[in-house]
Amino acid sequence: MAKREGIEKQSWKPGNVLSPAPPVLVSCGGTKGWKQNLITIAWAGNVCSDPPMLSISVRPERYSFEIIRTTREFVVNVPSLKQARAVDWCGVVSGRSEDKFAGAGLTPALALKVSPPIVLECPINIECRVKESLVLGTHTMFVAEVVAVQVSADLLDGKGRLRLEKCGLLAYAHGEYFVLGRRIGKFGFSVRKRSR
Ligand SMILES: Cc1cc2nc3c(=O)[nH]c(=O)nc-3n(C[C@H](O)[C@H](O)[C@H](O)COP(=O)(O)O)c2cc1C
Repeated sequence: MAKREGIEKQSWKPGNVLSPAPPVLVSCGGTKGWKQNLITIAWAGNVCSDPPMLSISVRPERYSFEIIRTTREFVVNVPSLKQARAVDWCGVVSGRSEDKFAGAGLTPALALKVSPPIVLECPINIECRVKESLVLGTHTMFVAEVVAVQVSADLLDGKGRLRLEKCGLLAYAHGEYFVLGRRIGKFGFSVRKRSR
């Protein structure tokens, strides 16, 4: 245990404590004989700006795994507070036995460039095509290119700027869900001169 300037630390065993993670609803299937499905994923993140790419990590035992592995397409639907219950539910039941769109009361709608449906109620829908699969251990990481994006028009202000604070984005940290709070600054605020 280290102690310095009043801050006490404990050594923990290596684990997935990086927080917060974005809990997202990933839609897949609806093509090549697969029924459409939803899986909750917390191990997701942006990985490249140009071309825009993101990754999701999925355990092979998930029903969604084989769908994504074979169809090589999925949609990352970023949920808001209104979909919090659906996010949890889609993460504890399997598409093998449930129609998750119906069960969660979510609406599948046409994607622009990929076969799986978007979740209409989610404020941001990110359509993805798999570029690489990395077998890491318990999880396989699908690295995918973002091929289309849809946002809910009611989140845009008069100047066409996306006001995400209107919807209450979710965060997942140490097994619990939170809703994003107070805005404390803009990119670069630490080096910007204060206005008088
Ligand atoms: C908050 C949350 C985050 C999750 N994150 C992941 C994840 O990153 N990768 C994964 O394989 N499973 C994750 N799961 C578990 C799957 O969502 C869950 O096993 C789901 O029932 C699989 O559905 P499927 O069998 O229809 O594919 C998560 C579950 C929850 C509740």
